Amino acid sequence: MKYSVAVIPGDGIGPIVVEAALKVLGTLSKLFSVDIDFKVLEAGDETKKQSGTALPDLTLEGVRASHACLKGPIGETAREVVLPLRQKLDLYANIRPAKTLPNIPSAVKGVDLVVVRENTEGLYKGIEDKTSDFSFSVRVITKRCSSRIANVAYETALYRRRKVTVVHKANVLRSCELFRDTCLEVARKFPQVETEEMYVDNAAYQLAKDPTQFDVIVTTNLFGDILSDEAAGVVGGLGLCPSANLGDQYGLFEPVHGSAPNIDATKANPIATILSAKMMLEWLSKKYRDLSLAEASKLLERSTLNLLTDGDVLTRDLGGRASAPDVADALVRRISVSRGHYDLK
Ligand code: IPM
Ligand code: MG
Repeated sequence: MKYSVAVIPGDGIGPIVVEAALKVLGTLSKLFSVDIDFKVLEAGDETKKQSGTALPDLTLEGVRASHACLKGPIGETAREVVLPLRQKLDLYANIRPAKTLPNIPSAVKGVDLVVVRENTEGLYKGIEDKTSDFSFSVRVITKRCSSRIANVAYETALYRRRKVTVVHKANVLRSCELFRDTCLEVARKFPQVETEEMYVDNAAYQLAKDPTQFDVIVTTNLFGDILSDEAAGVVGGLGLCPSANLGDQYGLFEPVHGSAPNIDATKANPIATILSAKMMLEWLSKKYRDLSLAEASKLLERSTLNLLTDGDVLTRDLGGRASAPDVADALVRRISVSRGHYDLK
């Protein structure tokens, strides 16, 4: 099978981290003989400056015509790119794992959780307005979207430690009552999975205090945005945390971090994007029952963990001196050696 992958490099450090991921993906596709056609598409701040729109129709069409998308972070125009992509493609589940990684300084070890964030409604619905002295954003929570995200969370938990924490603020927000009640209704279909409820303020506190208590956290759009950044901080940094935006038909993969316009490009850590690419290979392998892709994603994960364990090619955010291309080269070497190609250029 020939896969077509749409690539949106994005803004700021986006093009650098995406290029590193593409280099590694190129090596994997060669060594595992999987045919992947990468189509680079434009979106973001620069695109808006040049064409007047941050997400051109051509890009949206290109994404729709592909099997999956690998996307870098977007800068000022994130709202005009990220939200329409998620909503138009109905990518309702934002899967954000945060796991302790080898050799990465962090306050607590043994963290292995995943934030399952509703991705199409809540405060991100875009029903809002602003004058100079009044503004509002409507928070939309529906039973349909709450139910489908809860199902994803419980299905995910079945293959993990079988615990779901439903995070909400139902003591204050009526919209959260519907979210909570719907999640608890779905929970009844999964008696094997332990369910607990937690108010979002307490969840933020517990995440900082003892993150190992969590397995799967399911929550609404903005709460998930905030808690996933916090979870990234808990395991050692945003430079390491990947995400998958999944619908029933399509998957878009991107780092949790933003475009980081203020950091020097030589400091960019490509691991979050590389691990997002790993999630993409894994998702494609399941969707198309492709064992080569499954193997490739496993090798990519193993090689990345080995790279961190060895600790000789670390980016500056992790206390090293390596650049994003250095990390890509080191991974390409490791992957090639594992597949018996010692002299790959
Ligand atoms: C994220 C980002 C986005 C979000 C922004 C850039 C629109 O913070 O993916 O977490 O809020 O979802
Ligand atoms: Mg965010």
